[in-house]
Amino acid sequence: MQNQGNPKGRTYRRWGVTTIIAVYLLIAVGGIVRSTGSGMGCPDWPKCFGEYIPPTEASALPANYKDIYAEKRKEKNVRLIKYMQLLGKDDLATRLKNDPGMYIEQDFNATKTWIEYINRLIGAVIGLLVLGTFVASFQYFKTKPSIFWLSLSAVLLTGFQGWIGSIVVSTNLLEGMITFHMFLAILLVMILIYTVFQAYKTQLPEEQMQHLSLLKGIAIAAFLLTFAQTILGTQVREMIDVVAMRLGESQRGAWIEAIGLKYLIHRSFSWVVLVANLALVYFIQRGGASKLLRRVGYSVLVVTLIQLLSGIGLGYFGVPPYLQPIHLLLSSVMLGQQFFVFLALQNKRVATGHKQPLEQVVSI
Ligand code: HEM
Repeated sequence: MQNQGNPKGRTYRRWGVTTIIAVYLLIAVGGIVRSTGSGMGCPDWPKCFGEYIPPTEASALPANYKDIYAEKRKEKNVRLIKYMQLLGKDDLATRLKNDPGMYIEQDFNATKTWIEYINRLIGAVIGLLVLGTFVASFQYFKTKPSIFWLSLSAVLLTGFQGWIGSIVVSTNLLEGMITFHMFLAILLVMILIYTVFQAYKTQLPEEQMQHLSLLKGIAIAAFLLTFAQTILGTQVREMIDVVAMRLGESQRGAWIEAIGLKYLIHRSFSWVVLVANLALVYFIQRGGASKLLRRVGYSVLVVTLIQLLSGIGLGYFGVPPYLQPIHLLLSSVMLGQQFFVFLALQNKRVATGHKQPLEQVVSI
């Protein structure tokens, strides 16, 4: 079944690609929220200070606004505590119940409020985009049901992600919750990449190159190692948040030293990630891959090198705030690229194996 030239297929692909780009944008904005300390810029959810458009001045709020929102978060956490107990997470439940730090409200700050508010607006747009992609997937219901079901799972995951976002706020940015929220965003991107790839499949070249199975193995290894490095990175970030609270903004230069071993492991593991990605790019270039795959291969190399530079910038120049969202974004971009390479290597077209010109392949 060829979708090429099929305007309906084109609609689905356009929605899908736009949604993928938008989710990456949201990951970057999420990083900006964190690096500017705006996560609690809106103390409630989904509204912000009880409004659809938040205030710009503290005078617009009641005098006791901190007590009001701390109380609301406590109420919301009662249910969460029950879930945690059901899941056997008693430590977390006790912390949610008794940790006074969980209910400290920040002073109103218009910039932080609006950064968090814009983050939520983009999240809402993504909700609509994911929904649009799902609606556009109806056409595949009979011909390629997997596209329909995966698009539906993206809608459900986006809803779940929104709920987890509300818990991140009600638990005052509990570290594990931020990490979980981030991994869900990466999972959403992977589902979308996989689904859109299925819709493009017949238009993409079938890779008939030397060392194909070796290359597939390297692609999987590069993905898994980068994923492991991402987990290590989130551990470093969780520690940075704790250290930042303890030492304060003025001691930014001392944050890295205060972390110790986890940072050193993350830094050293970069060599392993670099070697895996170099091997991936080398075999792609050498093995007679299609022009598209070779281009993606080069982009993997470029993103990996920029990621290493951003990590060096964070580690050696006092964790500059502007590098934090870049470092977070690039790690999810790397995972997306590697996943795409793997899918491209797996690609078996139903039709004849002849390759099409790249211009046709990349036109959406
Ligand atoms: C390809 C290699 C790398 C990957 C995939 C990677 C990935 C990550 C990720 C996902 C985070 C968590 C970001 C967040 O949740 O906001 C992180 C944090 C961090 N990484 Fe890396 N990293 C890499 C290399 C490096 C290198 C080479 C260094 C240092 C020399 C480094 C230093 C840091 C630091 C300091 C943090 C904490 C940043 C913060 O608190 O915002 N990383 N890394």
